[in-house]
Amino acid sequence: MTVTKLSDLPDHGYQRPKRAPAARTGLSRDTLALSGGLVIDPATKAIAPNISMSVNNVLVPGDGAFSADGVDDLTALPFLYARWTNPTVRQLEQRLAALEGADDAVATATGVAAIGATFLTFLKKGDHLILSDVCYAGANELARRILPDYGIEVTPVNMSRPQDVAAAFRPNTKLVHCESPCNPILRLADLTAIAGLARKHGALMSVDSTLATPVATQPLSLGADLVIHSLTKFINGHGDALGGVVCGRKELVEKIRSRAGVYLGASMPAMNAWLIMRGIDTLFPRIRTISETAAQVAAFLQGHPAVTAVTYPGLASHPQHDLAKRQMELFGGMVTFQVADPGRMALQLAERLRVAHYAFSLGHQRSIVVLLDTQEMMTSTYQLAGDQLEDYRRFAGDGVFRLSVGLEAPDDLIDDLDQALLG
Ligand SMILES: Cc1ncc(COP(=O)(O)O)c(C=O)c1O
Repeated sequence: MTVTKLSDLPDHGYQRPKRAPAARTGLSRDTLALSGGLVIDPATKAIAPNISMSVNNVLVPGDGAFSADGVDDLTALPFLYARWTNPTVRQLEQRLAALEGADDAVATATGVAAIGATFLTFLKKGDHLILSDVCYAGANELARRILPDYGIEVTPVNMSRPQDVAAAFRPNTKLVHCESPCNPILRLADLTAIAGLARKHGALMSVDSTLATPVATQPLSLGADLVIHSLTKFINGHGDALGGVVCGRKELVEKIRSRAGVYLGASMPAMNAWLIMRGIDTLFPRIRTISETAAQVAAFLQGHPAVTAVTYPGLASHPQHDLAKRQMELFGGMVTFQVADPGRMALQLAERLRVAHYAFSLGHQRSIVVLLDTQEMMTSTYQLAGDQLEDYRRFAGDGVFRLSVGLEAPDDLIDDLDQALLG
C-alpha cells in the first residue's frame, strides 16, 4: 500500500484529534519523506525503523508462503527471502513510491542496477531503445556497448530537441530513456513533450531523475512511466551507501522486481535501505539549502576571472531556463563551470581545495568537484559526432568542472573556490 493520506499512516495508539483536519486530501511530500512507508514496530513502538537483517523468514502454513510459485506480486507474499524483498527494504520502497506519487517501487543494489534492470526487463531481442545521447556514463555505455550484443537496437538522441526524439521512433521502439538535468552537462529534456511522444508510439518512458531529486521534479506527474534514481546521490545524501530505485505502476515495478531481484540478483542490502531512509528524513530541507547555496555559488562563479562559462538551470543564462522554471520546483545542487586550461586547473583544484573535495560522485553533504574532459568523455563514453558533438560542446566546451554543492556555509564554500581558482 502506498501511503499518501493521513489515514494511511500507522496508528500510534493514541486518540486522533476530534476536529477534522483542513480540507486537504493528500499529505505534502515534505511529510511523506518522513512518514511514507513508516512502520511503528508493534512490539516496541519504536519510531525509527528497525533493521531487519535476516536473509530468510519462517514459513507459516496458511499465510500464502507455501504456494508462492507463480505469484506475480512478490510483495503480496509474507517475507520469504531477502533477494525478493525484506521488511526494511520494503519500508524504503514504500517511502520512495509515496514521494514519487507511484503505485510501487523496487529498490536495487545501485543506481546502475536500477537502470540495467529497467533495460533488461522491457527490452528484448529485436526491440529498439531511444537513449539520451548524454546521460550518466554507466547507463550510456551499458546501452550502447552491451545491449546491441543481445540484439537490441539503440539510438542515442539529443533529448533537448523533441523533434529529434520524434524522428527517432521505429515500429519496434519499446523504451525511451532520458535524464533531466543530464549528467554531466546539465542540459534539460522537456519531459512532458517526450512522454507525449512515447505514449503516441506505444513505448514506455523511463526518466533518471537523480540530479533533479523528487524535491525538484516529479516525472510521473509529467507523463513518464518509470522514474529511476541513484539513491547513492542526493536521496541518501551522506556518501555512505550505494542504492538505486525504480518507481512506477505496480505491474511494471513487479516485472522489474522479478527480474532484477530474483534473477539478476541486484537486490538492496537491508543496512543500505536503513541508511538511505535516514537520509530521506532530511531530503527536503537538505535539497532546499543545497539549491540556495548552489544559486549563490553559480552567481559567484559567473563573475570569477578564472571562469569562462557557468551552467546552472537556475541562471537566466541557461539556454533552457524557461523549461527549468516550468519543470523544476527548485534548481538543485549541480553546477558546472569551464576555465581556459582545464587540465592545469584540475591539478590546482585538487591541491588547493580545503572545504570542497576533488572527487567523483555527487549529491553528498560535502561539496565535490571533478573535471570531465570533453575529449575523454567522447572517447570513453558518448562517441558523439556532427551536430550532437556541437550541441555537447555548447554546454561543455573542452570540459566541465562538475560541482555538486553540499551543506557547507555558502561563504566558506565560495571563499574556498575563490582561493583555489586563483591559485
Ligand atoms: C544520473 C545518474 N544515474 C545513475 C548513476 C549510477 O548510480 P550508482 O553509482 O548508484 O550505480 C549515477 C552515478 O553517478 C548518476 O549520476
